[in-house]
Amino acid sequence: MRTVHITASTEYDVLIGEGLIDKAGELTRKVVKPCRCLIVTDDTVDELYGDRVQISFSYAGFDVTRFPFPAGEASKNLSTLSDILDAMGAAELSRSDLVVALGGGVVGDIAGFAAAIYTRGIRFVQIPTTLLAAVDSSVGGKTAIDMPFGKNMVGAFHQPSLVITDTDVLRDLPALQLSNGAAEAIKCGVLNDPELFALLESGDWLDDVDAVVERCVAYKRDVVAGDEFDTGNRAFLNLGHTFGHAIEHLSHFTMLHGQAVAVGTVMAASAASCPGEMIRRLADCMKANGLPVRCDYPVTDLARAALSDKKRAGKSITLVLPDVIGKCRLEKVPVTDLPRWFERALNTQEALEL
Ligand code: GLY
Repeated sequence: MRTVHITASTEYDVLIGEGLIDKAGELTRKVVKPCRCLIVTDDTVDELYGDRVQISFSYAGFDVTRFPFPAGEASKNLSTLSDILDAMGAAELSRSDLVVALGGGVVGDIAGFAAAIYTRGIRFVQIPTTLLAAVDSSVGGKTAIDMPFGKNMVGAFHQPSLVITDTDVLRDLPALQLSNGAAEAIKCGVLNDPELFALLESGDWLDDVDAVVERCVAYKRDVVAGDEFDTGNRAFLNLGHTFGHAIEHLSHFTMLHGQAVAVGTVMAASAASCPGEMIRRLADCMKANGLPVRCDYPVTDLARAALSDKKRAGKSITLVLPDVIGKCRLEKVPVTDLPRWFERALNTQEALEL
């Protein structure tokens, strides 16, 4: 088992290894004394792993109840949050009790937010069951729900007490879910880790998924340690997200987050006028992982959609632009320049025939 120790306002371990789902209760008991706990999950994950996780926590001495909600981003809303809070109340959780978030990014975000606000904050454990959640969203304490006026617009920073990633679960994921998460792992490679990028380039790294998750989490550890509350360098984690957010929005969220981030990352390199060879290498890495590299939306629509990005601060927007594989820079640009950045990205991609 690999362990990455996170030093944020709450310190905690991220445990990565095979067969951990059946040891989740025992592993949690090392950091949280047995208490009441509510497992929050979605109906898909519940069917696959709900019983095993519940048995594991019960066996470790926890008094467990379970709350599954319908799978999908559409559930990440106030109504589901209210249902989760009701379930926490019905289970008579007190401030010294525990929430277990068993699932992908949607479950982690909404269960974490419920834990952040119930009795002004109770502990929670993340058990990510998608690659995307394992390499990104389960670590770092961002919790949120979507609102009619935007994704993740209401939330809180609330760090988990423990993250348990079972790599057998990740190995069993469908190909589409793996490529969705691979986009975020490739992002970490481009930001900071050329060796990780090289590993992912083959598209054949499932045997090394433990190392992939560990390297991504170790990078996130360093970013979060320096800027837990996202006022500075945590913005680097948005590589591909400004362009990607626009694409996701224009696709009416039919495109998966990772797919949009993949296109957005290649667009960021293209807009940054990186050497053609590097842009091609990046695009080939995305393709090797079953990810798209371009979109056909008009520049004006892309720019308008990007401006609905909550990360925009007033009249400027911070872009994350690759310099080389393994190093990026932040560039604050006036929002009025955004169409030109999109145009440069699309023109470069056209010229390279991506
Ligand atoms: N997923 C980006 C962040 O945690 O800041």
